[in-house]
Amino acid sequence: MSSLRDPRHDPPAASQLDPPPMSDAAVRALRPTRVEVDLDAIRHNVRHLGAVAEGAEVCAVVKADGYGHGAVAVARAAREAGASWLAVALVEEGQQLREAGIDGPILLFSEPPIAAVGELLAAELTPTVYREPFIAVLDAHGQARGRAVAVHLKVDTGMGRVGVTEPDWDARFEQLATSPGVEVEGISTHLARADEPGVDTTAQQLATFDRALAAAARYGLRPPLIHAANTAGVLLHPASRRDLVRTGIGVYGLSPSAEVDASAHGLQPALRLVSEVAFAKRVAVGTPISYGHRWRAPEEGWVATIPIGYADGVPRRLTNRAQVLLGGRRRPLVGTVTMDQLHVWCAADEPMVGDEVVLLGGSPSGAAGSPSGAAGSPAGAAGSPDPIRVEEWAAATDTITYEIATSLSARLPRVHLGG
Ligand SMILES: Cc1ncc(COP(=O)(O)O)c(C=O)c1O
Repeated sequence: MSSLRDPRHDPPAASQLDPPPMSDAAVRALRPTRVEVDLDAIRHNVRHLGAVAEGAEVCAVVKADGYGHGAVAVARAAREAGASWLAVALVEEGQQLREAGIDGPILLFSEPPIAAVGELLAAELTPTVYREPFIAVLDAHGQARGRAVAVHLKVDTGMGRVGVTEPDWDARFEQLATSPGVEVEGISTHLARADEPGVDTTAQQLATFDRALAAAARYGLRPPLIHAANTAGVLLHPASRRDLVRTGIGVYGLSPSAEVDASAHGLQPALRLVSEVAFAKRVAVGTPISYGHRWRAPEEGWVATIPIGYADGVPRRLTNRAQVLLGGRRRPLVGTVTMDQLHVWCAADEPMVGDEVVLLGGSPSGAAGSPSGAAGSPAGAAGSPDPIRVEEWAAATDTITYEIATSLSARLPRVHLGG
């Protein structure tokens, strides 16, 4: 039916009241703080991991909003680069991808509550299964709709999280072999210590996995997709590369652990965390800065205030323990990181409101001698400083890159570069 709306008399439709989506420039005008994600780096990493995995299919793991990088944009870039599978942790993460028009197989890593099965099937997600009642419910759905539900069976070979443990192998394999409403398309396991070179538990897990596969085969379960490797498995353990590799952290160019350096393996970080100087002041020697007065100026000089804080995912533990790029050089983050703001010591170089501040990543090319030091200082004269790595923050706060990336809060706009 056509609508004969008279704009002079009819109230505006709800859609007309919704604010239009904001442009990057408009977002930046409100607060010049953002996460930039280089989709060319994502594509490079997917191709590179696929090449290292020597012909295995690549499953790009985009759970937790693409490890903080923006799940939909990363999923599209990964698909473009040849990832035949995507993986998520939650049904709603899979739904988000489907709503954005992303098709192709999406693996759900763990069983959701049984109440979520209807939504899981409606979104055409491929569930990982291991519990008897969950498999029974899927079987009933598959039989009722006259089309078996494709599932991936997970066996626990030493991760100790989810999956069928050895005493239950026979019962679960038999259940799956006699459930016409489900079709076992894959069998998987997850490695607990692949990111620790020199630890032999990965070989033990793979040996257990091979025994599980042999046992499953005795029940007629010989699916086409066997998978075990995460990023560290791909990089360090050739025997873990089976039909499919499930790579997360490597897709983002970040290191799985302090011992496994992503850059040394040819991966490129995709993320920059960028802001601008919002306020600058010259302080006298001894001037205390921020809550608790945990830092005092060592000499007379300039302190810049940057509009980003722990509510954005900058760990408060980075207080006095990190550096940023400002004016073409590394400068220390000083004083307690607050909820929305932090401080940078610029010493003799006068920072200008609006100067770019890079908290993670590198300066854009050519920015080595950026506006700071406008008062005649030689800021940047030494050439481009090293990029600030997520790995540095992880080391300084005694955690892993995964936690840093996924803690970048939803308050930060994600800007995707590279098409
Ligand atoms: C079951 C499973 N497979 C694969 C991955 C990807 O691991 P990584 O990010 O180390 O590549 C994860 C991540 O946590 C996972 O839970």
